[in-house]
Amino acid sequence: MKKKITVLAVATALSAAALGTVAGAEESKGLIGVAMPTQDLQRWNQDGENMKAELEAKGYEVDLQFAGNDSAQQASQIENMIANGDQLLVVASIDGDSLGTVLAQAKEAGIPVISYDRLIMNTDAISYYATFDNYLVGKTQGQFIVDALDLDNQDGPFNIEMVTGDPGDNNVNFFFGGAMDVLQPYIDAGKLVVPSGQMTKDEVATANWATDAAQARFENILSSNYADGTPLHAVLASNDSTALGVTNALAANYTNDVYPVITGQDCDIANVPNIVNGKQAMSVFKDTRTLATKVVEMVDAIMTGGEAPVNDTKTYDNGTGIIPSYLCEPVAVTADNYKEILIDSGYYTEDQIQ
Ligand code: BGC
Repeated sequence: MKKKITVLAVATALSAAALGTVAGAEESKGLIGVAMPTQDLQRWNQDGENMKAELEAKGYEVDLQFAGNDSAQQASQIENMIANGDQLLVVASIDGDSLGTVLAQAKEAGIPVISYDRLIMNTDAISYYATFDNYLVGKTQGQFIVDALDLDNQDGPFNIEMVTGDPGDNNVNFFFGGAMDVLQPYIDAGKLVVPSGQMTKDEVATANWATDAAQARFENILSSNYADGTPLHAVLASNDSTALGVTNALAANYTNDVYPVITGQDCDIANVPNIVNGKQAMSVFKDTRTLATKVVEMVDAIMTGGEAPVNDTKTYDNGTGIIPSYLCEPVAVTADNYKEILIDSGYYTEDQIQ
């Protein structure tokens, strides 16, 4: 009898200790709202899930929402986050200009906001911006076309067309601006020609970055300007969802022996096979794991009163002043280096990109 009591006492003491440890580990460091634009595109699912996993590993609770590319829905999700007591918001906007009102409420409630990937414009509620170097993405795409067509040594003229993304996404200004800063001198010199004549930001835009919208526009460009056998030498496509629209349109409507150099961005699973088999010359890889890790560092610093990491305090003015930013580095991926950058790094498995 005596022995039994002792055993029970030990067991009780052990489980109390165990319970104590578990309760300690579960204590939340705070509730973080993560507002992502859409689940339609691969990258935002990855961005959202990476951040959720890393924040939870650091002891935060995460309220992750996707808004179906509907800016009114995103505003209402953020409103709910504020009402639910979220203590910090990470927001990848759909339309950079449509969140001013709801973010004013966040500011009023003392909730810091990190603008994720896309800069949110004309609101003083943004504490930090974390992204890839968007201007460098555009420059990398432009320079790739210059090198591929050897424009410094060839007279041309070479024919080029342009396809960018949603005009409400501030990144478009940097992607297109960076690329055009490289390409414009060759257009001015007559080495590059745009047969469709479509060159302004609005003319080359793609609503919501949608593949079918890019494809429909490109089919029109092909039938109006290339059906007579005119060769197309290059397409500046700002990202992979739009590049996919271009390659789809070409597959059905273009038979010239000259196949264009096509750029992209994100290294989406759907595009990597095209890079390997030569239908898309390159994509700019933005390792969403790196961005998520950086944002989690920012969140943790803000939440614990530390210093958030930034490496740029002069480039990104959102209309209310410069937003301190952390810019991650984009990398050009081609058929020659995709294995090393995408597979060896563990971003994809071989099976995923067959
Ligand atoms: C992102 C790109 C993405 C595009 C469409 C941009 O803001 O920076 O990586 O391809 O949105 O979702």
